[in-house]
Amino acid sequence: MINNDRLFLITGATGKTGVGTVELLLERGHRVRALVHREDERSRALAKAGAEIAVGDLRDVGTVSEAVRGVTGAYLCYPILPGLIEATTCFAKAATDAGVRSVVGMSQISARPEAGSDAARQHWMSERLLDTTDLLTAHLRPTFFAEWLPLWWEVRDGEGHLRLPFGEGRHAPIAAADQSYVIAALLLDPEPYDRAVLTLHGPAEMDHYAIADVMTRTLGVPVHYEPISVEEFASAMAARGMDAHRVQHLSNAAVDYRNGVFSGTNDNVERIGGRPPLSVEQFVNEHKHDFDTSGPHYVPAS
Ligand SMILES: NC(=O)c1ccc[n+]([C@@H]2O[C@H](COP(=O)([O-])OP(=O)(O)OC[C@H]3O[C@@H](n4cnc5c(N)ncnc54)[C@H](OP(=O)(O)O)[C@@H]3O)[C@@H](O)[C@H]2O)c1
Repeated sequence: MINNDRLFLITGATGKTGVGTVELLLERGHRVRALVHREDERSRALAKAGAEIAVGDLRDVGTVSEAVRGVTGAYLCYPILPGLIEATTCFAKAATDAGVRSVVGMSQISARPEAGSDAARQHWMSERLLDTTDLLTAHLRPTFFAEWLPLWWEVRDGEGHLRLPFGEGRHAPIAAADQSYVIAALLLDPEPYDRAVLTLHGPAEMDHYAIADVMTRTLGVPVHYEPISVEEFASAMAARGMDAHRVQHLSNAAVDYRNGVFSGTNDNVERIGGRPPLSVEQFVNEHKHDFDTSGPHYVPAS
């Protein structure tokens, strides 16, 4: 049965955290408007599941003003691309004018004013910008997603390699699906979390040697972590066509990672989202199809 008293806007709705949030809210009987960047198979799947579809660019105040009309609570999610401050400004203005009650903002664990990454500094500024509004506001600061693992996976002679610049730093990878539970819970009950800054982690901190060991056991092929320099990582990203903003961000995030900025764990996912977060082993098991063992393979991360 549709619960008509509230309408939730999910932006970045075809992205990793957006899809699951739309699905959860629909499953729980709520009305959902999904703001998608373009109409395609992903947006058609959301429409089929029952979401109302709005199409447009978060940096366009006209698009966002239309998208927030009648909305109770919104998830604001913008990718690692230039334009986060513009998108947040458009949202803050449009949501305030429309009387939106609450927002959950996607930020990241490295968001701070002194961050070397332009994107991380912009995330911090966007958080502060949302804090100036009258909306009930919660900020999510995840560590690196578990979805990174298949994206940086490289296969040579039937063996997997993780060539990453993370030294012996550690983090507790967090699956996007677990974050969707947190986002849905915060949208449904925003009052207790007004102005909260919530770091999100998986259940166990690991270095990439331990992550490679888990992948070896779970995928049934040897997987090796090969630490590389930040410079080598930046050159590899540029050679593979990644845009300069993302290369700048990920290079500086790697330095932060080595310095422990992405480390830690807590019970935020289970306490707020209501289910324990997936371990790396569970994630890899559930995503075996994403790990192509057939040949040389390397996809730049998003
Ligand atoms: N990945 C990580 O390890 C990690 C860690 C911590 C925090 N984060 C944060 O997570 C956020 C990304 O979340 P995510 O991974 O769930 O999203 P995502 O998978 O990167 O997807 C981004 C979504 O935004 C849409 N989009 C792109 N440009 C847009 C625009 N101008 N206007 C409206 N929509 C636009 C994309 O649509 P199209 O695909 O059609 O363009 C896509 O649906 C970033 O802010 C990042 O800082 C990520």
